[in-house]
Amino acid sequence: MLVFVPPHPLIKHWVSVLRNEQTPSPIFRNAMAEIGRLLMYEASRDWLPMVTGEIQSPMGVASVEFIDPREPVAVIPILRAGLALAEHASSILPATKTYHLGISRDEETLQPTIYLNKLPDTFPEGSRVFVVDPMLATGGTIVASLQLIKERGVENQQIKVISAVAAPPALQKLSEKFPGLHVYTGIIDPTVNDKGFIIPGLGDAGDRSFG
Ligand code: PRP
Repeated sequence: MLVFVPPHPLIKHWVSVLRNEQTPSPIFRNAMAEIGRLLMYEASRDWLPMVTGEIQSPMGVASVEFIDPREPVAVIPILRAGLALAEHASSILPATKTYHLGISRDEETLQPTIYLNKLPDTFPEGSRVFVVDPMLATGGTIVASLQLIKERGVENQQIKVISAVAAPPALQKLSEKFPGLHVYTGIIDPTVNDKGFIIPGLGDAGDRSFG
């Protein structure tokens, strides 16, 4: 498994905005959306299938490269907080399909419960899949998500996980269970407390995004 923390000043800036407990909900959501945009930009580098062709511009014929619209690209936001992180997916990625997955974590047991599953029975052959969840804490939620996705015919190498903050327990589980996976995160924090919160983290991303 590879974990990328792109060293981009804008990512660091928006992580600082997320961390600040004084940040109001609309600004928090906007910062989350910006981090998602930047991470998906980085994650799509050298990954999206290109085709070449010729296009008539107003001044002549040009050789062009563009993303192959026949190759399926899926975005899977993990509700709720993943909705904010995935907000700009459709504006930076041409021709994506969005499949929602609703998972909530029990506050006591920290076990994930799947309450909404809009995944297809089988993903189209060769699908490239972005799984978008801001917080990778104990890892229960992201592991449950990836298991559902893999059962539907997607290999680890076809999946990129996008998150704002990741913690060691989640990264450890992912590397054990999903070799070949790529994770893109805004920052890696040192620890998770006994209530399942990333420390220092940014609090409850779902509540801070949606109140
Ligand atoms: C939070 C967060 C992740 C999950 C991470 O979601 O957005 O999805 O917990 O925790 P884990 O790695 O320990 O499983 P939450 O269950 O609070 O739902 P929400 O997004 O609706 O607030």
